[in-house]
Amino acid sequence: MSEKKRIWTNELSIGNTGIDNDHKKLIEIINNLVDMIELGGSREEFAKILTDMTDYSLKHLKKEEIYMEEFDYPKLTEHKISHREYIFKVAMYNVDLLGNNPPNLNEIVQYLEKWWTNHILIYDMDYENYKKAIKSDTIY
Ligand SMILES: [Fe+2]
Repeated sequence: MSEKKRIWTNELSIGNTGIDNDHKKLIEIINNLVDMIELGGSREEFAKILTDMTDYSLKHLKKEEIYMEEFDYPKLTEHKISHREYIFKVAMYNVDLLGNNPPNLNEIVQYLEKWWTNHILIYDMDYENYKKAIKSDTIY
């Protein structure tokens, strides 16, 4: 079964170039995972890309948290919880991938696509709108 690739659309833009660029990069890595499945890559190769994605995600999420702190975003705690849930889930996938009972690769890709799309459109859009509303000049 082949996975449909998600390409970047302006619908996913939160109106902040630096953050949008990070999100584009993350979606590109998800597409690399889709390629890996289609090319019949090994679990180890998939796990390697997923680890790269985790590294990039951790940097991005941390930077985003500092950014939100700078303009005193009122829903920061809630937003951080969403990040923690993601980090935990992906760490579990990474561990399970190399174990005896590996998860389905398509399931992982679907989780990533769904999480990022939903998170960008709801959570990230919200802090950026708040930042605009209070006319903060915080730079990401
Ligand atoms: Fe976020």
